[in-house]
Amino acid sequence: MFENWEELKENCLNCRKCSLCEARSNVVFGVGNPRAKVMFIGEGPGRNEDLQGEPFVGAGGQLLDKYLAAVDLDRRTNIYIANIVKCRPQNRDPLQEEQEACMDWLRNQTALLRPKIIVCLGRIAAMRIIKPDFKITREHGQFFKKGNIYMTATLHPAALLRNPAQKPAAFDDFLKLRDKIDELQADISKTY
Ligand code: URA
Repeated sequence: MFENWEELKENCLNCRKCSLCEARSNVVFGVGNPRAKVMFIGEGPGRNEDLQGEPFVGAGGQLLDKYLAAVDLDRRTNIYIANIVKCRPQNRDPLQEEQEACMDWLRNQTALLRPKIIVCLGRIAAMRIIKPDFKITREHGQFFKKGNIYMTATLHPAALLRNPAQKPAAFDDFLKLRDKIDELQADISKTY
């Protein structure tokens, strides 16, 4: 466990804990404000992310940024975005063993960020973070409280590009997220 964000990042960027390190161009550590209280977690980098070293920079990322902007969120200022695995699995879901090998980085990121809300982007992240039997089509947009953290999942941006009919449902998840942020902010301010 690293106590310092920069130290954590530097060590993660040199990670060789699993074989995904062999073919990577970049470790995709994450993007955003390390003091943010809302954390998004995706699955793992795709081709564009591997090349640029930043999560969600392809067409899916543009859609994500649009939804974020619609609820007054911005990837660089008031949220943090990370992935379950930090190196690109070549056009497949990350294997359980790759997820396991990578989880300590995410645990350390979460421990330092201490988010109040975690939003899983897609099924893989929701199954890993919220519960193993998470059903993304049925349970997206619902909040689950684990310890002090409110957790929710929305449909993966890449799934929305493949199936645009699901976009209104995903947009609704972002509206619910906005409501939850506002609700928690009101609670927090009441305590001061
Ligand atoms: N898909 C993900 O889950 N994460 C990324 O960073 C990019 C695409």
